[in-house]
Amino acid sequence: MALALALQLLILCEPPSPLCLGPWLGWEQREKRDGDPDTLQASYPKPWLEAQPAAVVAPGVNVTLRCRAPQPAWRFALFRAGEAAPLLLRDVSTELAEFFLEEATPAQGGSYRCCYRRLDWGPGVWSQPSDVLELLVTDLLPRPSLVALPGPVVAPGANVSLRCTGRLPGMSFALYRVGVTLPLQYRHSAQRWADFPLPGARAPGTYSCYYHTPSAPYVLSPRSESLVISSEGLCLGQRDASGDGPLPKPTLSAWPSSVVPTKSNVTLRCSSPIPGVDFVLRKGSATLDTRLPRDAAETTVEFHLTELGPRSAGWYTCECFRRGSPYVTSQASNVLLLLVTGYLPRPSLQAHQAGVVTAGGEVTLQCQMPNTAVAPLVSALLKAGTPSPVQLHRPVGREADFSLRDVTVRDTGTYSCIYYQARPPFWASDPSPSLDILVTGEALRDLEDSIVLGEFLSLFCHFLVCHFS
Ligand SMILES: *[C@@H]1O[C@H](CO)[C@@H](O)[C@H](O)[C@H]1NC(C)=O
Ligand SMILES: *[C@@H]1O[C@H](CO)[C@@H](O)[C@H](O)[C@H]1NC(C)=O
Ligand SMILES: *[C@@H]1O[C@H](CO)[C@@H](O)[C@H](O)[C@H]1NC(C)=O
Repeated sequence: MALALALQLLILCEPPSPLCLGPWLGWEQREKRDGDPDTLQASYPKPWLEAQPAAVVAPGVNVTLRCRAPQPAWRFALFRAGEAAPLLLRDVSTELAEFFLEEATPAQGGSYRCCYRRLDWGPGVWSQPSDVLELLVTDLLPRPSLVALPGPVVAPGANVSLRCTGRLPGMSFALYRVGVTLPLQYRHSAQRWADFPLPGARAPGTYSCYYHTPSAPYVLSPRSESLVISSEGLCLGQRDASGDGPLPKPTLSAWPSSVVPTKSNVTLRCSSPIPGVDFVLRKGSATLDTRLPRDAAETTVEFHLTELGPRSAGWYTCECFRRGSPYVTSQASNVLLLLVTGYLPRPSLQAHQAGVVTAGGEVTLQCQMPNTAVAPLVSALLKAGTPSPVQLHRPVGREADFSLRDVTVRDTGTYSCIYYQARPPFWASDPSPSLDILVTGEALRDLEDSIVLGEFLSLFCHFLVCHFS
């Protein structure tokens, strides 16, 4: 309809001159030709062409192409690559014209440009064309590829970066590890790819990625082929154990949790992959304590921190070392952020579809911080019995949305949230009142049902950036 209307309008109007038609009809030659009135063109600055709601949409979405002139114009024209005839735009004002694609079809995708003209420019003179707008109407973006840089086998002590490459710039990328429901990392990229750095010691595993448009209405790609990352491994590890090289890296965990109330106690456990080492616990760069395992075969030690106060919060690491000559140490363990709650007013936690959720569905929990909270803050979703936050999120405003996608019965539990200062001294709030989520094991419902199920469950929540960088 709109197309026909535009074509009718076109017949009534003066045809655009080659100056604007140029983008696809000999534009290159014209630019190179000597004596071309470049100075003339410079006084006709190009307009901007944009697509609302997005340049990548699913079929059936109403798309408006908007051509905006930098100065009052008399007429606008829209061109599509491969089509000689311009489509005239409907003028909304003297600076803006819109072209409406009702329930866009894949065939309407393509490269668009627009230009404008003024009455006082003389016959047939048009502005420079806008930059190209690539409109893509599709249900599914092309599948991305996932590769490891420098390679899928990680040398000891080295890091690896996984590169997810799609076909379009400006997308949001998610990296998944097989066996983990939530994305491991989330990244927006201006490029066609996103790099996900992984610390080498933790990298072995199987990964896949996908990407999607950065804002609603979302269009997703399928998951990439999976990629197996392995470590160069045991031979070198064993040589390390013999005492020559650096010791393998230990891991640090907190019990009952890395988020604990003020005046409580916490146990930090440091585990080495090999026996026969001593352990040191550090907070930042300061050494807090050293420990020997109780017997030579033991690979784990516990550090007990009691009566936690505001100064107990912070970044903890542990290391292994072996006394004697040579004195060898390991790399530092993972960094554990210990948070002591009770120093900021409590937030509230809401889930509009609280209660029962079907397996495979989605729940969005919103943590609302009080107005007194001062950025930069991080909000953490906690689950009773889980020793570290389930998700971390840097809220932009007063709300942090945590999305549990593809839930399984294992996601059943009691949730609460806190927020804390993103920098030392890491003061943390009291936990919010808790909220129970029950995931039932029923078969997957279809999308319509799940939309009815949670009015609040907006598709937006699928794609929240829920990682902590
Ligand atoms: C698209 O626009 C038409 C006409 O304005 C409207 O009837 C239709 O509901 C819209 N479709 C969608 C998916 O928004
Ligand atoms: C690996 O990454 C960690 C953390 O980003 C960094 O401190 C370390 O220097 C990196 N190691 C190498 C060999 O690049
Ligand atoms: C913390 O540990 C101290 C010393 O072991 C003990 O007296 C106290 O009761 C413990 N506090 C809690 C809350 O468990």
